[in-house]
Amino acid sequence: MLVLGIETSCDETGIALYDTEQGLIAHTLYSQVKMHADYGGVVPELASRDHIRRVLPLIKQALAQANLRLDDIDAIAYTRGPGLAGALLVGASVAVSLAFALDKPTIGIHHLEGHLLSPLLATPAPVFPFIALLVSGGHSQLMEVDSIGQYKLLGETLDDAAGEAFDKTAKLLGLGYPGGPALSKLADQGTPGRFTLPRPMLNSGDLEMSFSGLKTAVLTLTRQNGGATLLDDQTKADIAHAFQAAIVDVLVGKSLAALDQTGHRQLVVAGGVGANRQLRESLSREAAKRRATVFYPPLEFCTDNGAMIAFAGAMRLKAMKALPQKNGSFTVQPRWDLQEIDKV
Ligand code: KG4
Ligand code: ZN
Repeated sequence: MLVLGIETSCDETGIALYDTEQGLIAHTLYSQVKMHADYGGVVPELASRDHIRRVLPLIKQALAQANLRLDDIDAIAYTRGPGLAGALLVGASVAVSLAFALDKPTIGIHHLEGHLLSPLLATPAPVFPFIALLVSGGHSQLMEVDSIGQYKLLGETLDDAAGEAFDKTAKLLGLGYPGGPALSKLADQGTPGRFTLPRPMLNSGDLEMSFSGLKTAVLTLTRQNGGATLLDDQTKADIAHAFQAAIVDVLVGKSLAALDQTGHRQLVVAGGVGANRQLRESLSREAAKRRATVFYPPLEFCTDNGAMIAFAGAMRLKAMKALPQKNGSFTVQPRWDLQEIDKV
């Protein structure tokens, strides 16, 4: 079964073709980062308009890459939520109208399910059940993943998501948008130990997290050193280093606690922050000490992409007794709790 995947939940238009026999056979992506950078963050209306411009050319490009035609597609998976309402509507309406014209079924996918399953696109891939650390711009959660559609929330952030904390702290330091990768790059130049920031809730005894205080701690540190505009480059890098070290320590500590608590020995890291090198190194090192293995999606599939949506769609369709009805209607869910998704 050949599934076309369409991801348009935020500022990336991602398209992919996943075949249940051959695996991922094509994927294309357009990132709107440059367009939003001028505004210091994602402008929803501009995002929707740009998805409209990109989505069809990217589908054509993916088909050309795979040397296939529209007729070859058996089903279309699209991101139904969560995300920006207008942006989601672009992907959903293109998916449903294209499917209607081709007389093929569609399936609406939860964006976070896409992220959760994306490490299965790598080789070697984890096998069910495993623990997933989901760290994106909007979410920071530890989940127990038993099989497709069977996800148990073990703990999550009580306030800012890890990616959000990276982005807000980067903004504080005058690093622009998107902040995560820029802050992480700057942290590499920092002096270890010059500044130390708190590790919020590291020893709380549960798997809950909190990152908004860290951003405030950075603001205080910045002020103590004369304010963001007066910071010399080295001090800025040292603060970035301290911030990254603190957030990585918390994410590693909580992930190890989740492994201990459940007895699982496989940890999967997904979402944009999963691209962070320091997090990857620390997690792999610490997990190895406990004879646990950490799995990451390929770097290009850590951030938003179409491959994870095509893959999640293909897995769900494969598990269904009958393909979904073709009725030409659709809804998007800008707010959608992962616990509320359909069981497989
Ligand atoms: O998963 P994603 O692409 O989109 C959401 O679903 O949110 O994640 C984007 C988030 C942003 O907050 C971005 O700053 C962060 O992931 N991010 C990083 C890195 N690359 C992306 N954070 C830290 N280090 C990175 N290398
Ligand atoms: Zn995402």
